[in-house]
Amino acid sequence: MIQDRILILDLGSTENTELARSIRELGVYSEIHPHDISLTELRQIPGVKGIILNGGPNCFIEGEQITVESEIRSAEIPVLAVDCQGADPWPGDSETQLTVLRDFVFNTCEAEANWTIENFIAEKLSEIRSQVGKGNVLLALSGGVDSSVLTALLHKALGQRVISIHVDNGLMRKNESAEVVRVFRDEIGANVIHVDAAERFLNKLTGVSDPERKRKIIGTEFIRVFEEEARKLDNIRFLAQGTIYPDIVESGTKTTKGVKSHHNVGGLPADMNLQLVEPLKTLFKDEVRALGISLGLPPELVYRQPFPGPGLAVRCLGAITSERLQAVRESDAILRDEFASAGLDKKVWQYFTVVPEFRSVGIKDGQRSYEYPCIIRAVNTVDAMTASIEELPYDLLSRLTRRITHEVPGINRVLYDLTPKPTGTIEWE
Ligand code: XMP
Repeated sequence: MIQDRILILDLGSTENTELARSIRELGVYSEIHPHDISLTELRQIPGVKGIILNGGPNCFIEGEQITVESEIRSAEIPVLAVDCQGADPWPGDSETQLTVLRDFVFNTCEAEANWTIENFIAEKLSEIRSQVGKGNVLLALSGGVDSSVLTALLHKALGQRVISIHVDNGLMRKNESAEVVRVFRDEIGANVIHVDAAERFLNKLTGVSDPERKRKIIGTEFIRVFEEEARKLDNIRFLAQGTIYPDIVESGTKTTKGVKSHHNVGGLPADMNLQLVEPLKTLFKDEVRALGISLGLPPELVYRQPFPGPGLAVRCLGAITSERLQAVRESDAILRDEFASAGLDKKVWQYFTVVPEFRSVGIKDGQRSYEYPCIIRAVNTVDAMTASIEELPYDLLSRLTRRITHEVPGINRVLYDLTPKPTGTIEWE
């Protein structure tokens, strides 16, 4: 069954994602597309019931005001123009806006509220099968929420024609690689290849301190490893990735500059020769979790905290050294242990430690120490686009400080990051 959908054309609004979410919350599927989509491209998207031209402050590209092709306006699809090209801006308060939106979606466009996970699954299963044909798919299994849900969805679509590759890039959390491989092989029965590429990644990263370069190097190296593995297998032409909507939006659109390159979007090498399968790329994180549950994954797996593709590399700030990488890994293990004991692992969205490059003077065992600080970060968010701080109890902070400074070599101070997103991002790089 084809889901009805409302397209948002990005004419420079800063609130495209909020609008898409509001429409999905009304039960109607919505997607954001660039302003210069052609009528032909638009006609290829199934189920389009209406279009919102969402204007705003970023409506100038190189000094020129952007607009949509005039054929789009005369396409016999209802159009709502907001705050652009002389049309009406969104009226008044959020309640009035919702009334306008509701009226447009249900009365003008006559869209049906048929956006459900079951319909989404049915649509994706047939899309995946028709894209892949008789080919085999390699799947990048990091073990995080996105790649786990992706595995479940692809197994449902293609069964044994999915080969999951877990690359240990040396930037995983403590014991994580072994655990990921065990769960997927033994409990889920997936076809998993375990590649130990730690040395290779860390060599490439030696002396590299720029965050974007680190991300690009990791992204490129990932693809290289996948390609090498793919060449050893038969009839692999596809690479599945758990790219989700915020990864795409934050890597920059035509009207906004990117915040950072998510390794599975901006960091892809141009000469990659596997075709991408990215069935989660229009979903927000909370929707990915709902999908996972609906596909029958265990809740422990689905409600795991997210972990960035570049792993601990973005938490071992600047040029990575084995001493500081080990400090990030050990302090993260202590933090997770304490959060689990306090029952905070089910409450806090994401929590981790960061080790910067600078050192400070302290005292350890009665002697002067000149070591690194460890920064604690704990945040809550719905969709990772904005985030607020979890107010950790003082006794937990004291215990963490004691444990991390005593148990982790090279750390003599513990700091607590109080910055929401914005102005910070969740990760430090
Ligand atoms: P930021 O730091 O942008 O992070 O506020 C938002 C969320 O995304 C995660 N993150 C990534 N996830 N590949 C991913 O799959 C990446 O390159 C990446 N960088 C950040 C981050 O942990 C947070 O949950």
